[in-house]
Amino acid sequence: MNVMKNGDKDPRPAEGQERRTSRSAREVSIGLLSAAVFAALFYLWGGELHPLAAGRLGGIFPFIGAVALTLAVALFLSEWFGFAGREVRKVRLAARDFLFLCTLAFALFFLAKGVVEVLPEVPSWNRALPPRLFVYLIPLPAFAMIVRILLNSEVAILFTVAASVLSAAAASGRWPTLLFLLLCGTAAAARSGRIQDRYRMLLAGVYTAPVCALGAVALELAFHGTGGIWWAGLLAGINGLIAAPIALAVLPMAEYAFGYASDIRLMELASTAHPLLKRLMLEAPGTFHHSVVVGTLAEAGAAAIHANPLLCRVAALFHDVGKVGKPQYFSENQAGQVNVHDVLSPGMSRVVILSHVKEGLRLAREYRLGDRIAEIIEQHHGTSLLYCFLDKAQPLIQERRASEDTFRYPGPRPRTREAAIIMLADSAEAAARSLKNPAPAEIDELVTRIVNRAYLDGQLNDCDMTLRDLHAVGRSFTRVLTAVTHARVEYPETGKGPFTAGNVP
Ligand SMILES: [Fe+2]
Ligand SMILES: [Fe+2]
Repeated sequence: MNVMKNGDKDPRPAEGQERRTSRSAREVSIGLLSAAVFAALFYLWGGELHPLAAGRLGGIFPFIGAVALTLAVALFLSEWFGFAGREVRKVRLAARDFLFLCTLAFALFFLAKGVVEVLPEVPSWNRALPPRLFVYLIPLPAFAMIVRILLNSEVAILFTVAASVLSAAAASGRWPTLLFLLLCGTAAAARSGRIQDRYRMLLAGVYTAPVCALGAVALELAFHGTGGIWWAGLLAGINGLIAAPIALAVLPMAEYAFGYASDIRLMELASTAHPLLKRLMLEAPGTFHHSVVVGTLAEAGAAAIHANPLLCRVAALFHDVGKVGKPQYFSENQAGQVNVHDVLSPGMSRVVILSHVKEGLRLAREYRLGDRIAEIIEQHHGTSLLYCFLDKAQPLIQERRASEDTFRYPGPRPRTREAAIIMLADSAEAAARSLKNPAPAEIDELVTRIVNRAYLDGQLNDCDMTLRDLHAVGRSFTRVLTAVTHARVEYPETGKGPFTAGNVP
């Protein structure tokens, strides 16, 4: 906890700590509740646990067996994802992600059991199809798609392997089933990257279907001869085709329950018809314009280092929404007006400026923008220093270094590459605005200075940006800013009077 100049304790880090603690407590309680629900399901449907009930434990064995099985599956998933998370950069999962994946894996386990045990009981299907063929309907492709869309490709591969093992275990444990599930899950995940609309999602299902069908026909032929190959191909093809509609139905629920924002959701948020963007446009037009330029810069920076350009563009549009309540306090909205900070004390100015991050976070929650955008809003200034107000306060304070903490944003510092890119783009746009008709070399120098300052101030210490990434992002900023701020050719006035739409190209 920081100590302010007057001896009071600075409450900011405590607030952040409190929020993190309450979030962890919520996730732990949801995790325990989920484990209890799945233990109950294992008990209700754990037919294979019951024959072992004989012996000392007698009648209570099914309860103990169900809890033990839940523990074993949870251990497997935590070891699998824990190991990958330590060794693979893009698999570092938050508790929320782990909870989401466990929920999907357990749900798939029971769906697989339902498909294999319930569907063959339907009388008309029972007569037409051998029961073994129903494994080709286990909906793993839909689940693999969901994970790829909401998380990333590395996690989707890991999930596909873990979920295939669990589903194959639920569906009689034959290894050809495991091979089929691995194949169709991988095929679906591979075809559903960077999906930004429903049409492309449905197309991913259409492209997955033939792979599933072909795999099922090959496995059926290898292990059971020609008897059921057409049915196997048909069922597996249907499984691939319905993966996209199932994923489309589940995505909004997953986004709502776990705070994710898929690329489809991001595209919806990017529309200027969004009520919060409309407010920003009408109440703080200067901030809206600034956000659009930051979005263009951030999108180019993300594309240069293979981060997520769509997330960067959309999060940049919302990064300063916290200014809507008090737009006149921010320089981009003060064109042609008096600077209100001239009559405010530096301490008062500090409070108003710092509050836009907290207010932005509140609005992000109110308008349900999703955790990815909310986190970027919270981190877009990191713990950077309000230099100009600290300079203004200089005559009033005794020791500058001791007062620095009170003139810093509360943080946290950027934790993802996308948040870091937006922090740098935000500073670069604001600094470039003050240049009049700058030369490319001048812009390049400015961008380098901004990147170096953020790096030396430790603002990039918590994210996975390499020095090579920083250079690539800086170069793309220079390119975009040069294009945005290029000098217009001055056209001479004609004898007919001022310029009109007709004589300005
Ligand atoms: Fe800001
Ligand atoms: Fe900004």
